[in-house]
Amino acid sequence: MKTLTTTIAVLLSLFASAQIQNWINIPETISGNSIDLNFHIDSVQMFPGAKTQTLAFNQYSYLGPTILLNKGEDVQINVENNIGDTTNVHWHGLHVSPENDGGPHTMVMEGETWSPLFTVLNEAGTYWYHPHFHGKTGAQVLRGASGFIIVKDENESALSLPRTYGIDDFPIVVQSIQYDEMNQPMPLGMQDSTIFVNGSRANYGHEANLNIPAQMVRLRLLNGSGERTFNFGFTNNMSFQIIASDGGLLNAPVNATRIRISPGERYEIIVDATSMEGESFSLMSFGSELPSGIQGGPTMDMGGQGPPMDSPINGIDFDILHLHVIPATSDAILSISTTLNSLTPFTESAANMTRNISMNAPNMMSMDGPFTFNGDSFDMEVINQEIPLDNIEVWQITNQTMVAHPFHIHDVPFFVIERDGNLPPVFERGKKDVVLVQSMETVKFITKFETFADTVMPYVYHCHILMHEDDGMMGQFIVTPLSTNVNEPEVEKSIINIYPNPAQTSITIDVPSEIINVDFHIFNSLGEVCLQGTLSNDKIDISTLPAGVYYLKLITNEKRYFVKLIKK
Ligand code: C2O
Ligand code: CU
Ligand code: CU
Repeated sequence: MKTLTTTIAVLLSLFASAQIQNWINIPETISGNSIDLNFHIDSVQMFPGAKTQTLAFNQYSYLGPTILLNKGEDVQINVENNIGDTTNVHWHGLHVSPENDGGPHTMVMEGETWSPLFTVLNEAGTYWYHPHFHGKTGAQVLRGASGFIIVKDENESALSLPRTYGIDDFPIVVQSIQYDEMNQPMPLGMQDSTIFVNGSRANYGHEANLNIPAQMVRLRLLNGSGERTFNFGFTNNMSFQIIASDGGLLNAPVNATRIRISPGERYEIIVDATSMEGESFSLMSFGSELPSGIQGGPTMDMGGQGPPMDSPINGIDFDILHLHVIPATSDAILSISTTLNSLTPFTESAANMTRNISMNAPNMMSMDGPFTFNGDSFDMEVINQEIPLDNIEVWQITNQTMVAHPFHIHDVPFFVIERDGNLPPVFERGKKDVVLVQSMETVKFITKFETFADTVMPYVYHCHILMHEDDGMMGQFIVTPLSTNVNEPEVEKSIINIYPNPAQTSITIDVPSEIINVDFHIFNSLGEVCLQGTLSNDKIDISTLPAGVYYLKLITNEKRYFVKLIKK
């Protein structure tokens, strides 16, 4: 009896101290001109008892592969909906036309495949994809529906930076989620306290781990949570360098010991583990340093009224990912470039106008929503802003609520130019597409609404706290063309090859015979038709076109062929 009691006591103490060790998954990459995403329903044994119903892409049961794109290349992504519900997929941060953006107006029915086709215009950086179906974004994303997009370009490739994926360059998505008694995620949970790193549990008896080599290591940090902001740092306040924000590289690395990342935001950082072989340390969140009002900071005392934001991990510091330093690789990056980019933000004097957007709550003194922009809840039928193509605009966002909101805009990245009348910190002066606006704060950013205009299909801006967005904290804008745009028929799109490209006098089209006698249109990036006719053979004479970038479009009964063409 005594022995048994002792054994149980030993087992219990072992159980109390033993953590289940998870080695986080680094998702495989997927690339090329045609990418297939099978968006499907799945399940994962995350907790004892009932399995958690999940949504994921391709070979995964949670999250999805990392999409690798090259700036300047065309890509078609085929999203097959097998989730048993209507959905869509948004390319967060990518500068694409409204019809390719995967916003709330794109609806892909169960069993359907949606195939956006676009040219990658963004610079090298860390972007991501996730569904955006209005009212269900939180429910779908928090079941696991998201993945990374990494864009490469010539500038970034020429720099001295770690970029060997999964070796010295790691995508790290951190999520906090609340589950119900049936082990299913609750999109409205303010008790979100189960932490996941790349889909591996990281707290409550679980530990997420990653091996990194003893050299310069790049972490691409994404906050994929529904609401929580993380204040990232490392054990012993170890310093690191911030090299990129949402929309690409900063002009120069910035030394830091903390980086605050709200839902939807990305920062790339460089950790120097050069002389640390055999050691281990942790990526942490220092929630105690966040102001209350930011979800993740100390819970606000609302006069003893039992605040709803009372998650057990609010306002505390906790480990997120344990990093174990293993021997360096033979081709380690020993030092990083000191100049990374040459961004010159638009100046305020160049702006055509300022737009004022306020963040509002029904009761200014309460923490409760539903939150709105300028008092208006999202309405699919209402266009909230009309923006002439190529307008340079300052957006002044004023938060008149008691909680912080991460403001996100589709279409174009922006430059933050002011926080409450002051310059933003240096690491926040690169390209961004999400900016956290604190309670009673005013943030100004500047951007140019370039390249894409569409008189019918809007883009959206919204709070990236997914439950606020689903509750209506979202607005729509239309970018209006400078001249009348061609209305594009809704037919299947395919990629064709043309050569030479760039071309000077004529191009040859490499396609099946079905295109003979078909009409073609060549239009510029403003949507103006520059050349049109009927194909009698596989050649088009382009000698009359001025030099520049064009798009060739061919429409047959079932297919729409589309390709970018450069005239020398
Ligand atoms: Cu991350 Cu409108 O989206
Ligand atoms: Cu987005
Ligand atoms: Cu919000």
